[in-house]
Amino acid sequence: MDSEAKALFTPIDINGRTAKNRLAVAPMTRITATQDGRATETMTRYYERFARGGFGTIITEGIYTDQAFSQGAVAIAQMMHAGAISQGNRFRDSTVGPSAIQPKGEQMTFYHGKDRYVLPAAITEEQIADAIAGFAGSAARAIQVAGFDAIEIHGANGYLLDQFLTDYANSRTDRWGGATENRVRLIVETFKAVRAKVGSAVPVGVRISQGKVNDYHHKWAGAERDAEIIFGSLGDAGADFVHVTEFEAWKPAFAEDGPSLMRLAKRYAPKATIFANGSLHNIEQAVAALDDGADVVTIGRGALANPDLPKRLLDRSSLDEFDPAILGPIADIKDTELMM
Ligand SMILES: Cc1cc2nc3c(=O)[nH]c(=O)nc-3n(C[C@H](O)[C@H](O)[C@H](O)COP(=O)(O)O)c2cc1C
Repeated sequence: MDSEAKALFTPIDINGRTAKNRLAVAPMTRITATQDGRATETMTRYYERFARGGFGTIITEGIYTDQAFSQGAVAIAQMMHAGAISQGNRFRDSTVGPSAIQPKGEQMTFYHGKDRYVLPAAITEEQIADAIAGFAGSAARAIQVAGFDAIEIHGANGYLLDQFLTDYANSRTDRWGGATENRVRLIVETFKAVRAKVGSAVPVGVRISQGKVNDYHHKWAGAERDAEIIFGSLGDAGADFVHVTEFEAWKPAFAEDGPSLMRLAKRYAPKATIFANGSLHNIEQAVAALDDGADVVTIGRGALANPDLPKRLLDRSSLDEFDPAILGPIADIKDTELMM
């Protein structure tokens, strides 16, 4: 093995769970569960391929789940609440967000959506407590009932927790709105509630981004100072890992020539394991990320195209290009994928 690959294939301990290498599958929603939210045999086979293909860690889509995924990789369950950009909720038609502000963008068609998001109601104090309890209860079930190894709280990409963090989506004047310290509070409180429920021996981390599924180019107005507050408060709260995602992970997070978001995560949450995501499927980019503050790289589209990507990197065989047709017309798992 050459020295470049060696760095990617060095094991890492995350609060007592050992991933055999630094390559992880990024969370990807594939809407293949049953109508009532149960994991299917197709999903088992889909996730198994990544483990067999050599990934050291697999992060699931934001789901309710069962015991499908422990096939040799560290299995992280992602807990997700879509808030104001929830679509296709089978329980109710209305949505809640931090404030009654029309979300940007349109519903995602590959998840059966169409047109604009509905105008959310401002979530009440009682509903916030329910949402936090929902994360904590689901996390405990993911560990205790389904047998996952670790929990990722989805604090990124424009969903509920990120809506609180986002200045233009959150106009609250209570302790959940205003300064960045207040807007990050729901993420931190959710983390603490999950930690209290699952205990200190279970790895718990948080995913953070600037861009969103409904606003790709958003930047934190406070730039590095915001990064310090956000990553610093997650580090202080005891996050075992912080998962940052950007379109291209190596790009400066703010000003030209400035540090990347993964570098800032490492700087302000130095004790946490840093997962980095965003166009990191090539070996050069993946290795460079490890030099730029990341401890683990997570791979989305590259893993869909190459479920055996770690094996290919090891033997230096070429990678297949991601074909967006896999996700059309809707994002469900296709039979052809299971043959790869
Ligand atoms: C089909 C699909 C579904 C996704 N679903 C989720 C999700 O449920 N949770 C999440 O945090 N990110 C989700 N993402 C984002 C990916 O985790 C990742 O950030 C993105 O694909 C960029 O990484 P890449 O350049 O390696 O593809 C999804 C991406 C794709 C392509």
